[in-house]
Amino acid sequence: MTTTQSFNLLQPYKIAEETFVIPWALEAPPVGHFHMNSMVIRGAEPVLVDTGAPAVRAQWLEAAWSVVDPLDVRWIFLTHDDRDHAGNLLAALAACPNATLLTTWFSIGRMAEEWEVPINRCRFMTDGDTIDAGDRTLVAKRPPLYDNPTTRALFDSKTDVLWSVDTFATNVPTPMPETADLSPEDFRDGQLFGGRLVAPWAALLDAAKFEAVVADFQHLNAEVIAGCHCPVLRAPQIPEAYDLLRRLPEVPPWTEFTQADLDQWMALAESSVPPEQPRPSGT
Ligand SMILES: [Fe+2]
Ligand SMILES: [Fe+2]
Repeated sequence: MTTTQSFNLLQPYKIAEETFVIPWALEAPPVGHFHMNSMVIRGAEPVLVDTGAPAVRAQWLEAAWSVVDPLDVRWIFLTHDDRDHAGNLLAALAACPNATLLTTWFSIGRMAEEWEVPINRCRFMTDGDTIDAGDRTLVAKRPPLYDNPTTRALFDSKTDVLWSVDTFATNVPTPMPETADLSPEDFRDGQLFGGRLVAPWAALLDAAKFEAVVADFQHLNAEVIAGCHCPVLRAPQIPEAYDLLRRLPEVPPWTEFTQADLDQWMALAESSVPPEQPRPSGT
């Protein structure tokens, strides 16, 4: 476990009392990197919030157990069944025999194509449902933007930490602990880019109806916002992020990269590979 002074991927860092982000990130050329974070709440009844990506399963499990003993984990809150969130779910369930899985009917069904989730260990959390985790009440909330219909964010009313899932996703030039480390331009551009990537349907939204949804989410009054695909947000980035979110219905859709872009990247990659050296004789 580390502080923000020594930020490294897959080394949990504290973002609020008893609350830790497990940071990970993927390179996303040519736009930088995208975080693939998850979170752990180490309260009276510890909670895993999402379960990381399968590509780094062993390291993710090691990181999680550096924060909390798996036998102490009481809840696994699965925001939705996308692989970047549910990637290590079965491994986490196996390691945490005392944990109840907080999820939705539809998530379980969507995972059934590949995974049989033990239904007797599940508890459904629909929009607005709360869970008493001993020393805190956790609220499940559908976030304004999502790329999977089952998505639920999680708000901890004790620390005022909000796990926003895929809302507030942003590309970053390099992985970092806090959005305060981004330039104002990168912060603005990243919010508008990430929002349109996650939810290209934002361009179809009725701005007034969307405003009501954003306002409802903002009224949680989160002091700290962590998400899978963003560094941690605090004031003054939080109100700025909400303002940018409100603009999305009016922003022209992002133009996807095309085959011409891919051809150009491949040509560039090939031209930068040194020519094959002749093999030494006798090999
Ligand atoms: Fe997702
Ligand atoms: Fe995601």
